Amino acid sequence: MIPALLPLYTRCEIDFTHALGVYVFDKNNNKYLDFSSGYAALALGHCHPKMIEALTNQAKKVWHLSNRFKIPGLLEYCERLVKVSAFADTVFMANSGAEAVECMIKMGRRYFSAQGKAHKYRFITFEAAFHGRTMACISAGSSDKIKGYEPPLDGFDRVHWHDISAVKAAITDATAGIIMEPVQGEGGMRAADPWFMKEIEKICRDNGILLMLDEVQCGMGRTGYMFAYQMYDVKPDLVALGKGIGSGFPVSACLATEAVGKAMSPHTHGSTFGGNPLAVAVASSVLDVMTETNFLPHVNKVSAYLKTRLLELKEKHFDYIDSITGVALMTGIKLKDNVDASIATEFCIDEKLLSTYASNNVLRITPPLIITEAHCDEAVDKFDKALVKMHSKKAMTVKKVKKGLTKVKQKLGLV
Ligand SMILES: Cc1ncc(COP(=O)(O)O)c(C=O)c1O
Repeated sequence: MIPALLPLYTRCEIDFTHALGVYVFDKNNNKYLDFSSGYAALALGHCHPKMIEALTNQAKKVWHLSNRFKIPGLLEYCERLVKVSAFADTVFMANSGAEAVECMIKMGRRYFSAQGKAHKYRFITFEAAFHGRTMACISAGSSDKIKGYEPPLDGFDRVHWHDISAVKAAITDATAGIIMEPVQGEGGMRAADPWFMKEIEKICRDNGILLMLDEVQCGMGRTGYMFAYQMYDVKPDLVALGKGIGSGFPVSACLATEAVGKAMSPHTHGSTFGGNPLAVAVASSVLDVMTETNFLPHVNKVSAYLKTRLLELKEKHFDYIDSITGVALMTGIKLKDNVDASIATEFCIDEKLLSTYASNNVLRITPPLIITEAHCDEAVDKFDKALVKMHSKKAMTVKKVKKGLTKVKQKLGLV
């Protein structure tokens, strides 16, 4: 019988009861170090006092009005985002990363259709990209886990990562823009090489097409810059933000230049909850903290320390660890083929360390941006212990059993 909760996730059966900062506690008061941050969402960690204050204050005033009415703080918040972005002139507020990307795609198309160029409706996207789970987002992405919804929406031309000639070759008169994650998350914590990003920007400018960046995961401080495009010194036309923008509260945004924003007119897009009073209050408090003078320097300092410690770990476990990937606090431990990253996360959980995995056999390391060097030491120590345990026969047996099960499932057509 199917459970009441649609079984879409391989959920870990721990009964978590509460969380604070970088730690989560279960019903037996076991303390877990959270280096996953709810898939890179908890930029300020769990239950940040300023967010609690903002949320509870707002909860006593007004929760929801709808965008038919003036929402307290919404315009001011968007003005702040515009200013911090240093490229955008306007913002659309939504509730999830996928909605922000969806908006980005719609705006990309309207930008051209409003100029009488509706034939420009296609987007170049990248292999291993992940942009969310709406039909447009899965059509733009390339996750092989998302099967069974075919046919994908028309309009997305996928090319290989770092293959600039393929990008050039894919451009036609129908191309409207290039959609990319400056740092691929699900795709294995892969940062674009600076030359590649610069070339992509140049191609967009030379061809009069839009540079559309999905910074749902890599935006809002995770790279040590407020936005990843600042790290690359490129100027996008559209940027999708999510996850860290609400640091655990469901809110997202699509940032656009005036030229693109002008193509949108009333009722051409919208959302019931997007930018509602609770979301605005929480997102504003997140931005308050992230724009404090020491916030980004702290992210840079602590990520440099984490990198050093991870490289030491790689030296020690050279037989298991292939490389350390990604940037700053969006990093990954790429494991060798003899170890399975999903199993490694189970060993980490045994060590009371929460981490997740991405494609390409990568352990994802996306801790809250407020971690200290002591948290890095604690995490590396736990990774170390988990990897040592994986050397045992048990790990290999688990791996074999898991592989066997997958084969059986494949035969039965279940995966
Ligand atoms: C780069 C990127 N884009 C979009 C999304 C979708 O965000 P959401 O799950 O909030 O819809 C994700 C989620 O992991 C993401 O990493």
